[in-house]
Amino acid sequence: MTSYVLERSLDGMNTSTLRSEIGAIPTISLAGLRSGDAGALERIGAEIGAAARGLGFFSVTDHGIPVELIDATYAQSRTFFALPLAEKNRLSVKNSKRYLGYVRIGEENLDPALNGDIKECYNAGGLLYEAQNQWPDLPGFRDTMRAFEAEALELVVLLQRAIAIDLGIDAHFFDQHFTEPEGLLRILRYPPHPGTFDGSSYGAGAHTDYGNLTLLAQDAVGGLEVRGRDGTWIAVPPQPGTFVCNIGDCLMRWTNDVYVSNAHRVVNRAPYERYSIAYFGDPNAGSLVECLPSVLAPGEAPKYPPIRFADYLRQRYDETYTGAPAT
Ligand code: OGA
Ligand code: NI
Repeated sequence: MTSYVLERSLDGMNTSTLRSEIGAIPTISLAGLRSGDAGALERIGAEIGAAARGLGFFSVTDHGIPVELIDATYAQSRTFFALPLAEKNRLSVKNSKRYLGYVRIGEENLDPALNGDIKECYNAGGLLYEAQNQWPDLPGFRDTMRAFEAEALELVVLLQRAIAIDLGIDAHFFDQHFTEPEGLLRILRYPPHPGTFDGSSYGAGAHTDYGNLTLLAQDAVGGLEVRGRDGTWIAVPPQPGTFVCNIGDCLMRWTNDVYVSNAHRVVNRAPYERYSIAYFGDPNAGSLVECLPSVLAPGEAPKYPPIRFADYLRQRYDETYTGAPAT
């Protein structure tokens, strides 16, 4: 069995300085998205489309995911990470073919040029992989994670309806690709950055995400950074009640690189721990990821051949293989 990271790693992006730019990431209201209001879908699609063609990142408000559920997920996350290390290690991703379970501090390395990431996390697979999940024996943990995942998946599907309109295709085009999705829910804990930050290690090294769309809740501590067009890093300050969304490699490929899957990283510069919750909106294993004809200018050819999502994922995992085979 192999272990692998879930995101594409990028070299040579670690030395530049941090820039803080309020408003660099647009905040988009999703009011009207759930009711399927045509005008709202078009407005939201246009706003997402503009962000997706730029930094590939945006935040959303009025998303409809209950704050109580988000709080409950953070509470479960705190309880889980407070367990003794030996107990968490019993649920190690090393036991898993699908990288489901616990990843200890330093185990994952999103930027292989650097030391291991100063974070710990726990990955839960979707319903399709329920039998392979390694749930901790904590009251309410599994139900809370399941409920969050269901809400996150629904929101990803809804967002993609607006995206489809922006791309000039049927609003429901992506629905069929999210019926048995490979998506994954991940809770993360970042301890304070140890010692002086010198760029030799990060909470999460620079990487892009593999799937179509990632939803991220970050707590009030901050630490997420996005790579600007000029190579400098832009802080994405926490905004309570919002999700940060970013385009993944797969949607970039589907759109022939019209949408941008941008590099991001995490540095916890605060003297206390940081928690975040990520849902990776990956399509079905069997989904054929191929250039959408609507994004091509007359005479323009697709940059990539069609590929099944599962094969694409395998390719990515093979590229970023990090661990020794588990027994
Ligand atoms: C990730 C990621 C950001 C964060 O897990 O892919 O980018 O704030 N996480 O934890
Ligand atoms: Ni990421």
